[in-house]
Parts: sequence; C-alpha cells; structure tokens
Amino acid sequence: MPNTIILGTQWGDEGKGKIVDFLTEDAAVVARAQGGNNAGHTVIANGTKYTLHLIPSGILWEGKTCVIGNGVVIDPTSLLAEIAKLKAAGINIPADKLRISDRAHVTLPIHRALDNAREALRGDNAIGTTGRGIGPTYAEKASRTGLRMVDLLVADRLRARVEECTKLGNPILIAAGMDPMEVEPMIDELAATVEQLRPYVCDTVAFLNDAIEAGVDILFEGAQGTYLDIDHGSYPFVTSSNTSVGGALTGSGVPPRAIDRVIGVSKAYTTRVGAGPFPSENAAFSEYMHQKGLEFGATTGRPRRCGWLDVPLLRYARMVNGIDELALTVLDGLDERDELSICTHYLIDGQRVDLPPAAIEDLENAIPQFETMPGWKSDTTQSTSFDDLPEKAIAYLDRITELTGMPVTIVGVGPDRKQTLVRD
Ligand code: GDP
Ligand code: IMO
Ligand code: MG
Repeated sequence: MPNTIILGTQWGDEGKGKIVDFLTEDAAVVARAQGGNNAGHTVIANGTKYTLHLIPSGILWEGKTCVIGNGVVIDPTSLLAEIAKLKAAGINIPADKLRISDRAHVTLPIHRALDNAREALRGDNAIGTTGRGIGPTYAEKASRTGLRMVDLLVADRLRARVEECTKLGNPILIAAGMDPMEVEPMIDELAATVEQLRPYVCDTVAFLNDAIEAGVDILFEGAQGTYLDIDHGSYPFVTSSNTSVGGALTGSGVPPRAIDRVIGVSKAYTTRVGAGPFPSENAAFSEYMHQKGLEFGATTGRPRRCGWLDVPLLRYARMVNGIDELALTVLDGLDERDELSICTHYLIDGQRVDLPPAAIEDLENAIPQFETMPGWKSDTTQSTSFDDLPEKAIAYLDRITELTGMPVTIVGVGPDRKQTLVRD
C-alpha cells in the first residue's frame, strides 16, 4: 500500500480510527501528526473496544511501528495512562513499537486549567473544548514559550519552562476567578513521567524519512476534521492545529512527494460535538441517533449533534486536502430511515452558495437546501462485500460521488473492524 494520509472531512469523529486500523494490516508505520488527547479514536477488534487518544490506531497490530510526530501536543500523564490501559488489555508497547518526537510540545497541567479558564471567560461564546489544554499548549508553542519533549527529559529545562509558563498563565487563571497553579506540584507530576517516556523519545522526522527511503508503507492518521482546522475550519469554533492535509506534512516532517494517496473519511451523515454553526443539523435526527445508542463523544461522552450529509463541506474538503477517495462510515446508521436528505448547497441572503463561507455569521445564517432519496430499509451490518449492499444504498453512495467528485472506495457498515467493505 502506498503512503497514505487519512483525514476527517467534517467536524471530527468521522470514524478515522476504524479506517486507520483497517488499513494498518497492509502498512508498516502509522503516524499521528497533529492534535493531542482531544482526539478519541474508536477501534473495535476481536470483540474488544479500544479508545485511542494520543496513540495511533495502528497500535493493535503486531509488528507495526506507531509514531507520535512533532506536530502533536502530548499530555505525558494522559499518554502513560493510555499506555497502561492498553497493557492491561494485553497490548504491550515496547520502545520499538512507539516512537515519540523529541520536538513535540508538552501539555502542562496549567494548560488544562487555562483551557477551562478561557472557556469560562468566553461565557456564552465558549467553544465547548474538550478541556484537555489543547488550545493553550498550541498558543504556548506559537508564543515560543512552550516545553518540548526534548526539554521534558532534562530536569533544569523542565523547571525553567514550567516556571515561565506559570508566570504567564497564572494572571489568566486569577482573572477567571480560579486558583493560581503552583510550580512544584506540576514539576512533580511531569518528572514522574520522564523515565517511562524516555525510551520512546527520538527524532521521528529522521525515522519517518528513513522509512520512506526504505520504501515501507506509512499511514498518516489525521485527528479532528477539516472544519476544526485552525485555518480552513469554522473559525473560531475550531481546534488549534491544522487538521487538513498540510498538518500531516508539517506535523511529521515528511516532504509532499512522499505522499501517494489521500483518503477523506466522512460519515454517511454529519455530526459535530461542541459549539459552532452546523447548517444541516436536525434535532429530530439527533434524537433518533441517540436513541439508537449512537453518537456520544469518545473523549468527553457528550452527545454529538447530528444532521444530514453536507455536500458544500465535502466539496471544500476535497479541494483543500486533494482527496482521492472517500471512506464513508456508519452507512448502517441510516438503515431504518424511510428517506434520506442530502444538503446540496446553501442559501445565504437569498443567494446560492456551493462552498462554506468564511464568515461565521454567514455559516450560521446559511439555509441548507436539500434533495431527498429513498432509504433502503434493510440491515447492511451483515454485508460482507460491497455487492451485498442494497441497490438504494449504492445509489446513495453514487449520488455522493456525483455531488462531491470523490469516489467512495471504503464503506463502514458497523463499528467492528470486520464491518468494512472495499469497492474494487
Ligand atoms: P474518529 O475520532 O474519527 O476516530 O471517530 P470516533 O471513534 O470518535 O467516532 C466514530 C464512532 O462511530 C465510534 O463510536 C465508532 O466505533 C463508530 N463507527 C465507526 N465506523 C462505523 C460504522 O461504519 N458503523 C457504525 N455503526 N459505527 C461506526
Ligand atoms: P477526533 O480526532 C470531534 C472539538 C471540540 C470543540 C473544538 C475545540 O476524535 O475526531 P479543543 O479541545 O480541540 O480545543 O476543542 O474541537 N474537537 C473534536 N470534535 N472530534 C475530535 O477529535 C475533536 N477534537 C476537538 O469538541 O468543539
Ligand atoms: Mg473521535
């Protein structure tokens, strides 16, 4: 399999983890390049459910190497908890199975507190973050006051950076009515992780480029989705990294010529967790999904907002990311519906609009325009090949291709690794 970037085309939770796990069988290396433990990637394999936050979804396979690249932000305590949980489930992670970038930035306990403080200060305009300290960690990185993994490993550098971050951060905590953070407990928390993490830390840029030279196949696992991208998403209701295709390159240190294929992952409908505009949102459809036990956040457990498939979002995602193929997940979620709606374009101030607008107010005011298709009203979860799918389901997939320009080459018909169909 060629070097492939797999990324979300919507607001995250498209089922990237499941698709990455499925494709890992034919790859040698799986790398994360952005985001942090705000991500929650679910994989169900051999009857066990795993939720991965920082560790790439290839970790369940034997003999593959997983990489946490330089563009990821790492909460060391959370990462060790994730490693321990996998170990308890029988998945050991020796140093040659996980490589962590020496250049990746570290989320400090004060960043978690600052995330909550900033949300509190925003009041009604809160983003609805995951509270994992992601925004403040990337802000610290951009402000050039961050702590990187390579610094975490050296006691006086760790102390110096924690002291500076605390000096800069405490006034914000106080402004939000929160207690300021003390330096020593933070240093203790981080220092306790150092010796367990040290064996994994290395120059992952060199590792990945050597792997490219050696001709082994690499999967780049996106976190979040295109509309949570700090540049291309529904700003300011976004995350703080580039979730689109460029983030996979800068966040891993590999050149564009190394990439052969880009797979966009989309649900067969649309979901969003957290605040922000969502033109095709539908309260009755959300309620229906929640009653089916679907669409609760993998990281925070919050119910996800649900709506119909939004073609303007997918068109723009195709353009921004250069998507070659679409993996469409949770097709089975629509199995019992009489009728399906597809948002083909918006009306904004009476004008037809085919791509998502820049202004958040315009996206909020966009009136979705729908076409409808008949549902297939049958169980797809037992399908073992693409040809098993009902005709009306295939018609739905073909219509998506017509409207977005992306061929649907992979279809999810259930959460299990095995419930994945490939179209030849
Ligand atoms: P990610 O963040 O993009 O990896 O996606 P999440 O794991 O947060 O959310 C996707 C949810 O959908 C998880 O609960 C998956 O187990 C589930 N899922 C993925 N693909 C399918 C599918 O084809 N059918 C069904 N029913 N569930 C799926
Ligand atoms: P995966 O990788 C869905 C959302 C949050 C919030 C906004 C900013 O599982 O698809 P942050 O904590 O990043 O500052 O929150 O982004 N968000 C996600 N939504 N899936 C994710 O990751 C997300 N990561 C962040 O809900 O709206
Ligand atoms: Mg998720």
